[in-house]
Amino acid sequence: MADTDDLKESTSFHPEIPQQSAAFFLKGANALGWGMQNRLSRIFSPASGRTVMLAIDHGYFLGTTTGLERIDLTILPLVPYADSLMLTRGILRTVIPPTTPASIVLRVSGGSSILKELSNEEIAVDIEDSLRLNVCALAVQVFVGGEFERQSIINMTRMVDLGLRYGLPTLGVTAVGKDMARDARYFRLATRICAELGAQYVKTYYVEQGFDTVCASCPVPIVMAGGKKIPELDALTMAWRAVQEGAAGVDMGRNIFQSEAPVAMIQAVRAVVHENQTPQQAFALYRTLQRQARG
Ligand code: R5P
Repeated sequence: MADTDDLKESTSFHPEIPQQSAAFFLKGANALGWGMQNRLSRIFSPASGRTVMLAIDHGYFLGTTTGLERIDLTILPLVPYADSLMLTRGILRTVIPPTTPASIVLRVSGGSSILKELSNEEIAVDIEDSLRLNVCALAVQVFVGGEFERQSIINMTRMVDLGLRYGLPTLGVTAVGKDMARDARYFRLATRICAELGAQYVKTYYVEQGFDTVCASCPVPIVMAGGKKIPELDALTMAWRAVQEGAAGVDMGRNIFQSEAPVAMIQAVRAVVHENQTPQQAFALYRTLQRQARG
């Protein structure tokens, strides 16, 4: 029992100062509970309102991927520069130290491989395991227009329901089928469906025309997917345009870990996302860090 002798009289009530009730910093998130907001604050920086997520979940349908053969050797040096890691529970448990400060966004849909129809996914992780792993969000692939469109959307809504029960945000990941047009009209459709059905944030690809309308019409934050490897300056330009046009950050994989200098590249991406550096400034930083690393 606490020592109750000589308790001091309480006096610091400050009735003249109203208690603050600040709005949460992410769009569409004001009505969420404390646990969910806290987890989102570990993914998105409250200072910039943005995130640099490092996507290394490719193996869930691709198996071994260039740059991810030895995650312990190639990815662990990048982790200190990532706000968040997007990955599978297999890699999390086997390779990522539990002391990592990066928040974890867990890939929870799966069940298909590149050898078959990719949209034929189910939920592949129990919510209890996500809680055991102390993750900050659950990532579900949504194939709008795909062969298993309905199934993938219902995967996401099931995760949203479970996530709301435990305070875990769901990330809707828009996947584009091979034959579908990658344009603003498609991404407005796909991102809006994810948000309308409850995803707390959405990952989608950048498009040159009308990306600002994709972000504006989605009532929750959007993070830009990286896509196939392109030259570093082009990738930095794409990330810069995306955040200037309304994205709340990026979730990039190959354009970071397949870069000639991945540690330099992720820092250059951070400069674009968190410090609003121009692509040219960030590319100069990339070159400097690359030279320093070579010694
Ligand atoms: C999307 O299909 C998966 O989440 C990918 O494994 C990953 O996000 C792709 O990242 P990137 O296209 O930037 O390599």
